[in-house]
Amino acid sequence: EKGGYDYFMLKEIAEQPKAVADTLLGRIDLAGNLCLDEVRIPAPVLREVSKVVIVACGTASHAGMIAKYAIEHWTRIPCEMELASEFRYRDPILDQRTLVIAISQSGETMDTLMALRHAREQGAKVLAICNTNGSTIPRESDAVLYTHAGPEVAVASTKAFLTQLVACYLVALYLGQVRGTKWGDEILSVIRELSEIATQVEEVLETMEPVRELARTLADKNTVLFLGRHVGYPVALEGALKLKELAYMHAEGFAAGELKHGPIALIEQDVPVVVVVPSPRGRSVLHDKIVSNIQEIRARGARTIVIAERGDETVAPYADHLIEIPATPTLLQPLVATVPLQVFACELATARGNEVDQPRNLAKSVTVE
Ligand code: M6R
Repeated sequence: EKGGYDYFMLKEIAEQPKAVADTLLGRIDLAGNLCLDEVRIPAPVLREVSKVVIVACGTASHAGMIAKYAIEHWTRIPCEMELASEFRYRDPILDQRTLVIAISQSGETMDTLMALRHAREQGAKVLAICNTNGSTIPRESDAVLYTHAGPEVAVASTKAFLTQLVACYLVALYLGQVRGTKWGDEILSVIRELSEIATQVEEVLETMEPVRELARTLADKNTVLFLGRHVGYPVALEGALKLKELAYMHAEGFAAGELKHGPIALIEQDVPVVVVVPSPRGRSVLHDKIVSNIQEIRARGARTIVIAERGDETVAPYADHLIEIPATPTLLQPLVATVPLQVFACELATARGNEVDQPRNLAKSVTVE
């Protein structure tokens, strides 16, 4: 059932273009229309939403962090992402105008379930983004948008994550459209870009051999750091989480702007640092800032592994290893930037002799708090 792959994780990484396309199927078209009638929360209710709160755990929380950028940008509704395990313990402020989005691959994660129950008790509406039909989280929610990743067997989440992102973008665009924000044109063009994204994920997968080679050379390292900004920051966190769970290595993700507030002290000779570079188009200020971060850490001896848009010439001279990804709109970049990090972690785990699909101490779905 591994379809000729050594591990489910490899199979699931390879299935990502299809998972992304399936999650978009019937929900967008080339004319830029969005059809999310299945989200049975009526448009007038969505127009009244005054705050969005996302609750999730682990990888799903990284999708939620990215969703926050998209939702606030396209809808101008304040949005927070909170780890489900923290949420109800701080007595969050919720009411009928709060839309809570619970993201879960399994639909059975106890922390997320308890968070959504708490939200509903306070009168908030809950929309689940879930990959498992009929599981508890969607059953207990007001509405559900299913991701169509198909069954995910490997403990480390890959294709579910990409489809969670797609679902989050759809919700953000839908909310933007329903509420008629000034980003109407941008929303249309992003919908069109989304229809190309599966092909771009495929392109990334075709160029992963150098990433595998690189990973094998790092098998004896103790630490790998990950840096990103804006939506690249959650991508850095996701890269670090994958490496922890699979390679059992010390891996940390940082917001690149925080470097000088502490983490730069960790930079020493030859420490591998993976940097996710935003597009030089779009938010170019961020791009330039991260290029100077790369220069700073390289000057201190770091081995820079740079994920950057193809053709980004300003960054190339500072990359010890350059991993090129296709150009996408800024907010969609995580869909292509995460893939090399999944491959990297999987290969490192293999090189270290670890059990890829069943990492030690972990369960696929965490049904206790
Ligand atoms: O099933 P869920 O999406 O609710 O699971 C949440 C986390 O337990 C999950 O994403 C976990 O972090 C993965 N093992 C990450 O690869």
